[in-house]
Amino acid sequence: LALGGAAMGLSGCEGPGETDLNPKSRQFPKDFVWGVATAAFQTEGSQTADGRGPSVWDLFEKVPGHVKDGSDATVATDSYRRFQEDVDLIAGASLDAYRFSISWSRVLPAGEGAVNAAGLDHYSRLVDALLAKGVTPYATLFHWDLPQGLQDKGGWKNRDTAQRLADYAHAVVERLGDRLKNYIVLNEAAVHAVFGHVLGEHAPGLKDDKLLGPVIHHMNLGQGLAMQALRAGGKDLKVGTTMALQPCRPAGGPWAIWNRLASDGLDALWNGAWLDPLFKGTYPKAMDDFLVGVVRDGDLANIRQPVDFLGVNYYAPAYVRLDLNAPGKIAQAAPPKGAELDAFGRHIDPSGLFEVLNRVRRDYGAPPMLVTENGCSDPFGPGPGILDDQFRITYLRRHLQAVLAAREAGCDVRGYFEWTLIDNFEWDLGYTSKFGLVAMDRATGVRTPKASYRWFKALAESGVLAS
Ligand code: NOJ
Repeated sequence: LALGGAAMGLSGCEGPGETDLNPKSRQFPKDFVWGVATAAFQTEGSQTADGRGPSVWDLFEKVPGHVKDGSDATVATDSYRRFQEDVDLIAGASLDAYRFSISWSRVLPAGEGAVNAAGLDHYSRLVDALLAKGVTPYATLFHWDLPQGLQDKGGWKNRDTAQRLADYAHAVVERLGDRLKNYIVLNEAAVHAVFGHVLGEHAPGLKDDKLLGPVIHHMNLGQGLAMQALRAGGKDLKVGTTMALQPCRPAGGPWAIWNRLASDGLDALWNGAWLDPLFKGTYPKAMDDFLVGVVRDGDLANIRQPVDFLGVNYYAPAYVRLDLNAPGKIAQAAPPKGAELDAFGRHIDPSGLFEVLNRVRRDYGAPPMLVTENGCSDPFGPGPGILDDQFRITYLRRHLQAVLAAREAGCDVRGYFEWTLIDNFEWDLGYTSKFGLVAMDRATGVRTPKASYRWFKALAESGVLAS
């Protein structure tokens, strides 16, 4: 997900546009990790199976008006039951890795307290099924589906939730750590903080910008504590976290100077508020007002943990303008005139991926990185057109070209996970937005690979990005 969806601004933005991303070599290294990514809530369905408790999204999605097509994720891609078919598709595309998320509410139905062994059993079976096919599992611990029991106690506003995340991480590594070695603690925490707590477009559906400071800090703190719990509980682990990094670009025109202020403000809370504490143990100055009375002694040391990799999700730049009536005075602006958009309304701009990867290299000590999500929503409705998704192939090729160029510029990018395997439940957009390499008939659950699936398979096999 990304800011910069629907074009709604005044004047268009000046972005660098598509810069010349021409890598010298089209060859990825032999050990480059090719994968696909999914998330529990968007795919599993089976919301009450084997003792799962409710998450904030279970409640949110059922309120009329919250999900565009009035749909919900009670079935989704039915992957809780059909996971073996998913694994076969992943292995069938010759992919090295699968990034999925674990549902906190399956492991701890109330978010805390007694561990539900039956919930963990599911992930144990999934991990075994992947390993049996030579696919390396990468598990995200928190992909926005906070157990409702914790939300009832204040959710991420409540400092205790940070410790609950660490307890949950401990339960997972204790049961799966002998086979599951790659962990991504948080997914796009900025999206959960802003869309869930300020804009009200995602669960838990709150609209209160005063929550921003506590929510951001407690998620950061939980991430640091969970990283420590994982490392204390398992051997030979690779521990990282995933951020939604977006270059923030101010709208031009007569208000450009003010728009620049808004864009710097968004950059601080969207990118800096997560990168700085993790890598430097500080918050950007612009966060000071939000964080009054929130940060305690020792917190920043707990947050500044070494990472084995940083996960970078990239979809589009954010275009920003100042709006005195908007929360934080920050509002979305229109992408540059003539910009090519995907069906989600995001500007297709691979230069933004090059930019964020280089920013992490330059400003944060060049850590190993994985692109843990990248992909597009395609413009096809139901019907045969959906299977010949040349649009997606072009999108992926251009972004992978940016990855090659970033590697040549010195970015230590070690893998790429396409979002996503099968068209799934796209949060507030329901099933109207399709990101899959594979289509699914929602009436039967039958999966049909698209052209992009075959293209991605050929790429994973050869490691060469054809031009
Ligand atoms: C990022 C999120 O992590 C994922 O859940 C979502 O479906 C994609 N963006 C596509 O918008």
